[in-house]
Amino acid sequence: MQLLVPESAPFTSEQRAWLNGFVAGLLGMERALAASGAAGAPAAEKTAAAEETLPWHDPTLALEERMRLAQDRPIELRMMAAMGQLDCGQCGYLCRSYSAAIVSGAETDLGKCVPGGRATAKKLKELLAQAAAAPPAPHASPAAPRVERPVVERGYGRDAPVRAQLVSSTALVSAGAEKETRHVVIGLAGAGLAYEPGDSLGIWPRNNPDEVELLLAILKAKGSEAVTLADGAVVSAREALSSECDLRVPAAALYQLLARESKNEADRSRLAKLAEDDAPAEGLGVHDVLDALVEFSSARPRIGDFVASLGRMQPRLYSIASSQRRHQDEAHLTVGVLRYEMNDRAYQGTGSSFIAEHLRPGRPVSVFVQRSHGFRLPADPAAPVIMVGPGTGIAPFRAFLQEREAAGANGRNWLFFGNQRRDTDFLYRTDLEDFAERRVLDRMDLAFSRDQTNKVYVQHKMLEAAEEVWRWLDSGAYLYVCGDAKRMAGDVNAALHQIAMAQGGKDSAAATRYLAELARAGRYQRDVY
Ligand SMILES: Cc1cc2nc3c(=O)[nH]c(=O)nc-3n(C[C@H](O)[C@H](O)[C@H](O)COP(=O)(O)OP(=O)(O)OC[C@H]3O[C@@H](n4cnc5c(N)ncnc54)[C@H](O)[C@@H]3O)c2cc1C
Ligand SMILES: NC(=O)c1ccc[n+]([C@@H]2O[C@H](COP(=O)([O-])OP(=O)(O)OC[C@H]3O[C@@H](n4cnc5c(N)ncnc54)[C@H](OP(=O)(O)O)[C@@H]3O)[C@@H](O)[C@H]2O)c1
Repeated sequence: MQLLVPESAPFTSEQRAWLNGFVAGLLGMERALAASGAAGAPAAEKTAAAEETLPWHDPTLALEERMRLAQDRPIELRMMAAMGQLDCGQCGYLCRSYSAAIVSGAETDLGKCVPGGRATAKKLKELLAQAAAAPPAPHASPAAPRVERPVVERGYGRDAPVRAQLVSSTALVSAGAEKETRHVVIGLAGAGLAYEPGDSLGIWPRNNPDEVELLLAILKAKGSEAVTLADGAVVSAREALSSECDLRVPAAALYQLLARESKNEADRSRLAKLAEDDAPAEGLGVHDVLDALVEFSSARPRIGDFVASLGRMQPRLYSIASSQRRHQDEAHLTVGVLRYEMNDRAYQGTGSSFIAEHLRPGRPVSVFVQRSHGFRLPADPAAPVIMVGPGTGIAPFRAFLQEREAAGANGRNWLFFGNQRRDTDFLYRTDLEDFAERRVLDRMDLAFSRDQTNKVYVQHKMLEAAEEVWRWLDSGAYLYVCGDAKRMAGDVNAALHQIAMAQGGKDSAAATRYLAELARAGRYQRDVY
């Protein structure tokens, strides 16, 4: 069975070592999937995935690199390479089963991959067009069987959410922090949901009500007009814009509509180009749907047509930061509120600002539990655990510590946490210090990156403690990483590789094999986004 990136693959030895680590991590994921029979992947998919090399299945690789790695593979795998590679389940599938469902025609919505965003949707559209245009190969395999979305139990998937309430949302950072992170408590009483540490909570957000009113005003609509959604449901325009439509990314259909409606020749040709390229219109100052209406002021479509031209709202996932043994009727979340400025305008993340700002305590929210695909505490309560979770990556580890304490697990626990500044960004400081005082947390290493001139990150702390990290791993420790996929997870993997070489006396290839083996045994697990 070919498991790792082959020596012949076009990478330097460092790149190969790093990629191999990721393949190793993902194999851990496949192993857990196979073991649990979890979340939507048909058995054939799991077996096939375990037997194939999928070198693009790595969330740290850029889209172009992933497409290059998949370039000679069948359409289904090229489409898989276009996905976000998190296997997060947010779309209702895994990366591979989503692509299989599209290829088989069972799924027609190309915009469901939230981590991949606009770039993924655009690439899928391009691949689908290429596939439709290509003549059938002389020995083409028979048409792909339909891959239907798995039926999910109520409360355990995006299409079967249940009603919960916001209990509270409080700041986890102090005045002066550069980023806002909040502790959010969702009340589950009556929802009948059960979750385990490592699971995420899916939330169906609602758009910023001020933005909805602004769009209605620009289009001179009352909001009470009946509009028809893609699935045939008829709702009011205000409700459609609030909960059914994506107001972040202007879809090609919106540009087409505005081009048809525009009274201005120059605008019509710019819009036609935008619709054709399906490209972000950043150069024009168009970042979201509101920008598109402001920029093309001669186009004022009817509200029903406008709603029909928008993409669909997608749910957002948040790692659960509590154990149900401690908080039976609640799920705690650690939400980083996304805010940024561009084009002289302030933008907010849809999901994070909904939870942090627009949702009021006591108000209902549509949620579901997204079962983890292989991010689970060891079954053996005596096994030592090392957790690496900078920023919001701390979330599942608060759940792990609560769970291990409540279950009376006697294995040692070691946390690496990092954030910008100790004074303002030490998330869950009281909780963590209490865990340390009660000896639930045996060791805590902190990396506050901006408290000194040089950046200090969690992987630097791991390297400083390399001898001890190795001793823990050697004595059977399980290692978990949560948080940023794009930079941190790869750097932590490289640090582990270095530790295996320096402390384990291994050469680069043996260190890579060691990490692969660790992942295969379920002792190196990642939940990155
Ligand atoms: C398994 C999993 C677990 C997760 N757990 C957590 C968690 O515990 N805590 C947490 O906070 N998040 C977590 N996330 C991320 C979370 O799901 C959301 O993606 C996050 O809250 C952002 O969503 P949003 O709706 O606020 O932003 P969106 O409205 O989705 O906006 C995000 C988009 O904004 C754009 N953007 C962002 N920054 C900029 C910028 N500076 N300039 C230009 N454009 C920009 C990008 O296109 C980006 O894709 C998790 C994700 C997954 C998959
Ligand atoms: N997919 C999404 O939509 C989404 C939404 C929210 C967050 N995220 C991801 O989740 C991550 C978590 O966000 P967060 O705001 O809580 O924290 P974060 O940005 O990951 O920052 C936490 C700490 O990690 C440090 N850091 C930066 N680069 C690092 C690296 N290469 N290795 C190790 N540590 C590094 C930061 O330092 P400095 O900042 O000082 O460099 C900071 O001290 C974000 O980075 C983001 O990529 C994704």
